[in-house]
Amino acid sequence: MSKILVTGGTGYIGSHTVVELQNAGYTPVIVDNLSNSNIGVLNQIEKITGLKPEFHNFDLCDQAKTNAFIEKNPDISGLIHFAAYKAVGESVKEPLKYYYNNFFSLINLLNAFAGRPINFVFSSSCTVYGQPDELPVTESAPVKKAESPYGNTKQIAEEILSETARAKNNYQVISLRYFNPVGAHESALIGELPLGVPQNLVPFITQSAIGKRGPITVYGDDYNTPDGSAMRDYIHVVDLAKAHVAAIKLMENGNPNGSYDVFNIGTGNGTSVLQVIRAFEETTGVKLNYVVGDRREGDVEQVWGDVSKSTEQLAWKAGLDITEMMRSAWKWEQYLKDHPFN
Ligand code: NAD
Ligand code: WQD
Repeated sequence: MSKILVTGGTGYIGSHTVVELQNAGYTPVIVDNLSNSNIGVLNQIEKITGLKPEFHNFDLCDQAKTNAFIEKNPDISGLIHFAAYKAVGESVKEPLKYYYNNFFSLINLLNAFAGRPINFVFSSSCTVYGQPDELPVTESAPVKKAESPYGNTKQIAEEILSETARAKNNYQVISLRYFNPVGAHESALIGELPLGVPQNLVPFITQSAIGKRGPITVYGDDYNTPDGSAMRDYIHVVDLAKAHVAAIKLMENGNPNGSYDVFNIGTGNGTSVLQVIRAFEETTGVKLNYVVGDRREGDVEQVWGDVSKSTEQLAWKAGLDITEMMRSAWKWEQYLKDHPFN
């Protein structure tokens, strides 16, 4: 069946997507420079599916290597582009590092496929909405000025892709705007591998619970939400992975919406920080220590997605709830304790 190039395929969302592509009968081929992932992930994928994915280690910012790879693989029909830097705080301190990596990798790939038909799925983010004026936020809501260079790379990448798809008829593109991906594969053989102190809520919770970190700080309890803590649309990473397979399938049949399209990928539900903490405690039976601190700069108060477009047109819907998200995240953290990757 079709060969799909997965850039960043040894990373968190990429590795889960490789598994779902294999489960759906596709042949994923990974390109990753291992700047934020571990080669051991390939064996873990093989343990889950029985298939070790083909892997190529190079930097997509290298146009010559990217061109040579694409030329040698004329049978690649789809591309899921995860490879990017993603740490919001670091992007504020090192903007050029983010603009360089996230733009050159994207532009090099588009150049490499020039003239060849390709179905392209791009990893975008709900960060493009900022604090939406209306909730749940739909795909037609205005894109707000980005809070960080990282967020800006997603906004500009979407523009690069929509303009390129309009100008050149070989590209079909879907941008998936992920809400907050959390959790791990049910096997606990793959999951998120945060470098250093996790900035995201769920990995901090699991590391705190296992004793790797101190108490969790809840960033603000004076928001205009039912319990005062900020609300997000958490989505299980396996559901998110399946959305990529659905996007590839939609383009294989010819997306009736045209050569460029955007979908929200979330559950459609808002969950507060305090509700996540409670869900973790109830699911795992492990008591968490937390303190309430100040709001974190740049955080929005509340955001969750309207997912009716993805449900109807992508034929995809999230099936796993916050309990499954917490259960799998905890199982993965426990697995890591006995099987450290680094
Ligand atoms: P990740 O860091 O785990 O995976 C990204 C992978 O890309 C890593 O394995 C890294 O080694 C690789 N990579 C980076 N630059 C590269 C380059 N120049 N050449 C080759 N490989 C390169 O991140 P993730 O959480 O899996 O995120 C995947 C994508 O989804 C990213 O584009 C991210 O911005 C986007 N996204 C993530 C989230 C989230 O919360 N995790 C939310 C919205 C969007
Ligand atoms: C979730 C909630 C925090 C840590 C970020 C990026 C976004 C996207 C996903 C890539 C917020 C609160 C967190 C902690 C806390 N990534 N929190 N204590 O900020 O919604 O989104 O990741 O595209 O671009 O900005 O996710 O997991 O950091 O935070 O109280 O120790 O948990 O304030 O309300 P966020 P998060």
